[in-house]
Amino acid sequence: MADKALDLDFVRAFYPALNDGWAFMENAGGSLVPHTVIDRVRDYMTECQVQPGDNSPIAREAQARMKKGHETVAAMLNAEPEEIVIGPSTTRNVITLAAALRDSFQPGEEVIVTNLDHEANNGHWRRLEEFGITVREWQVNPQTAELELETLAGLLSDKTRLVCFSHCSNITGGPNPVKEIAKMVHDAGGMVCVDGVAYAPHGSVDVKDLDVDFYLFSLYKTYGPHLGVMYGKKEHLLKAKGQYFFFHGEDNLPMKMNPGAPNHELTAGTVGVGEYFEALAAHHLEEPANDMHGRMRQMFDIMAHHEENLSARFLDFAANHPKIRLIGRSEANHDRRAPTFSFTIEGVKSQDVPPMLEKHGIAANAGDFYAPRVLKALGIDPDDGAVRCSFVHYNTLDEVDHLISALKEIADA
Ligand SMILES: Cc1ncc(COP(=O)(O)O)c(C=O)c1O
Repeated sequence: MADKALDLDFVRAFYPALNDGWAFMENAGGSLVPHTVIDRVRDYMTECQVQPGDNSPIAREAQARMKKGHETVAAMLNAEPEEIVIGPSTTRNVITLAAALRDSFQPGEEVIVTNLDHEANNGHWRRLEEFGITVREWQVNPQTAELELETLAGLLSDKTRLVCFSHCSNITGGPNPVKEIAKMVHDAGGMVCVDGVAYAPHGSVDVKDLDVDFYLFSLYKTYGPHLGVMYGKKEHLLKAKGQYFFFHGEDNLPMKMNPGAPNHELTAGTVGVGEYFEALAAHHLEEPANDMHGRMRQMFDIMAHHEENLSARFLDFAANHPKIRLIGRSEANHDRRAPTFSFTIEGVKSQDVPPMLEKHGIAANAGDFYAPRVLKALGIDPDDGAVRCSFVHYNTLDEVDHLISALKEIADA
């Protein structure tokens, strides 16, 4: 029997903030959280907000709940818990990783970054120049905003140690072929560090299947609390220089990579992300997979179908409107596009659009979204930036229609 199509009433009932009448379309900035997450954070703070440890029942309870949160994240990525570092944000995790890898790179060796991506998986790698590392830039095709594999092939050499790129751009919404890129880089002898922040809210990520060395995403954009997640292959994490205190030791994973330890209540609250997906799975799946990663993948497939419908509706309008310049692909297919749409409107400042949308009860945003390099490459002034409307699975076709009619009014005025 076929699985159910996404039951939006069921989904939306999990999100207390969706009761406020707004069409929330700034999900790429930060998604809303289901009540399961709110409940787990509140429970932890109410029942066991103490130093987790083994010295008392309450400390053991705190430790067990944090462990469960950690295991939830590992299951999301199909990783081992010791390969998962939970930190305050993706930006912070990249800074930690860059410091941890720095000493293993020799002067003259190369790190490749892109001009497509958010600055998080970018700026702190560029700073390795201060340590004699050569930084090379994989540039987008300025006509299409695409990172092309032939361009990367021309940059790779036996000096390449690391290539940093995104699974999906937070501006164009276009996924990159991570597995293929990882293979190219590995063949050249390098490692990859993938920013999965803009992809993780929309699709299942299997770090083993992708064969990535490092993969990062932000839970607060993936229906969770404000935390960042970093996966690293065990062999690399063991070799990296510890970033916590010397007495934690170089074999102590993931602790050595987590200066200051993760936020306790939010790590425990992450269990609520798993509970949310499990509740959706129980409601929608006829033949659920036998592990959490598999059930999440099945749910993401169902969500993807709904997101494709939202994208198709929006693209039908935005890709064809004469005054709208849409950045990125005009294909709704989920393999080709996440429902994150950045655009400019001829004759209208991008910065003026969100306040106009606000009058229609629509929350969107405008700016460079911390990825000014790609806007510059496309000839868009990063100071004014682009308008961005980003949907996730809990958005409705009615909301997209409402957005379209508001944008028509703005563009046709
Ligand atoms: C694609 C992308 N990468 C990285 C980040 C940085 O994430 P964090 O806020 O967790 O540091 C963001 C945040 O907007 C993002 O959109």
